[in-house]
Amino acid sequence: MRTQPEHTGPANLDRRGASETMEPTNERDEHRGVFAGFRSAFKSFATDAIHVGQEPEQWSSMAVVPPISLSTTFKQHSPGNHAGFEYSRSGNPTRNCLEKAVAALDGAKYSLAFASGLAATVTITHLLKGGDGIVCMDDVYGGTNRYFQRVAAEVGLDVTLTDFTKPELLKAALKPNTKLVWMESPTNPMMKVVDIKACSDLVHEHNKDIVVVVDNTFMSAYFQRPLTLGADICMYSATKYMNGHSDVVMGMVSLNKDDLHERLRFLQNSLGAVPSPFDCYLCNRGLKTLRLRMEQHFKNAMAAAKFLEADPRVERVLFPGLPSHPQYELMKRQCTGCPGMITFYIKGKLEHANTFLSSLKMFAVAESLGGYESLAEHPAIMTHASVPENERATLGISDTLIRLSVGLEDEADIIEDLDQALNAAHPKKK
Ligand SMILES: Cc1ncc(COP(=O)(O)O)c(C=O)c1O
Repeated sequence: MRTQPEHTGPANLDRRGASETMEPTNERDEHRGVFAGFRSAFKSFATDAIHVGQEPEQWSSMAVVPPISLSTTFKQHSPGNHAGFEYSRSGNPTRNCLEKAVAALDGAKYSLAFASGLAATVTITHLLKGGDGIVCMDDVYGGTNRYFQRVAAEVGLDVTLTDFTKPELLKAALKPNTKLVWMESPTNPMMKVVDIKACSDLVHEHNKDIVVVVDNTFMSAYFQRPLTLGADICMYSATKYMNGHSDVVMGMVSLNKDDLHERLRFLQNSLGAVPSPFDCYLCNRGLKTLRLRMEQHFKNAMAAAKFLEADPRVERVLFPGLPSHPQYELMKRQCTGCPGMITFYIKGKLEHANTFLSSLKMFAVAESLGGYESLAEHPAIMTHASVPENERATLGISDTLIRLSVGLEDEADIIEDLDQALNAAHPKKK
């Protein structure tokens, strides 16, 4: 039994993060295919998720499950002399347990929890001052795009969007005022895979002080470790896979640099976008099954992606676990597997996409992703409606694009539902 968080320091990164630590396995698991050798890439991942930061010895009750600490304030022995907590916005015991566990899972020294993924994004952006520049991947979550272009740009930040899958475009976009570089991989919704190491290295060669952020929401800590690939900050909408039960809105940030951590803690407290202790408890509980969930998401998504790719009613499938994906080789190098996210173009027009979505019986048509339940959505009308129309057209977010978040249901039921909805959109000719 672990009584200390053993893996929260950068000294442990060599052991846990880089590809050379990946241990081959003899286990047969067809869906993992080329990722099979990566099965136990992050040694002790499940053990850390269950034990780091959860030590019963930290509570006088010796509670095995961390209690939900609702008190907003904490008694001091004398003014300024306290047991580590003063006021719940600045620090909370339940949040502390969660932050320690997430730091361990990211192979990071520090982790901070926020009230939402966007609250984490906004807090990170407050590292900048008026006139500073942000270079952001062109294909990101619609809310990130909206915040950078319609809020941050309006208060004087210089925002540039470009396609990081071509590192030369990123290089050309860096300016003397660039302070923040923001990327997702795979991107939402186009599933473009960015070479995180190549991009981080070229940015830091340009200026080592630029903060490189990877939004790791799609991958979770289980499939991708941006900090070991050169990023300064690994950020999540923990609302998705990290919590995994579609019942918490939360953001997480992991990092190693002491000065950056100190500044972000200051901003976390000063801006105040912290999660509730109850949400921290739920997310901490969700992490305990992260490994199991991600393995099953991958298995189910691989089966669904293969089914869709073979179906004549489907124009094109974007799933980075398929050899047809343009950055499949990079994906195999950079990640240890794929989450349940599949984007595909249905043949036809908007009406076919609409009929498909409204005919689904088990998949719920809903925004969000990464929960145990299967969801489907129409990015152009739903999650990415806030992306300007011309940018959507350039990216390929068309009327026939559909995004799936494949859940943890039985594989046969997932395929059956997709099949019958495709039948509704494109009735088979008798
Ligand atoms: C990739 C990605 N990043 C960030 C966010 C924003 O997170 P939240 O909704 O928790 O604020 C989302 C939300 O969908 C997302 O999908």
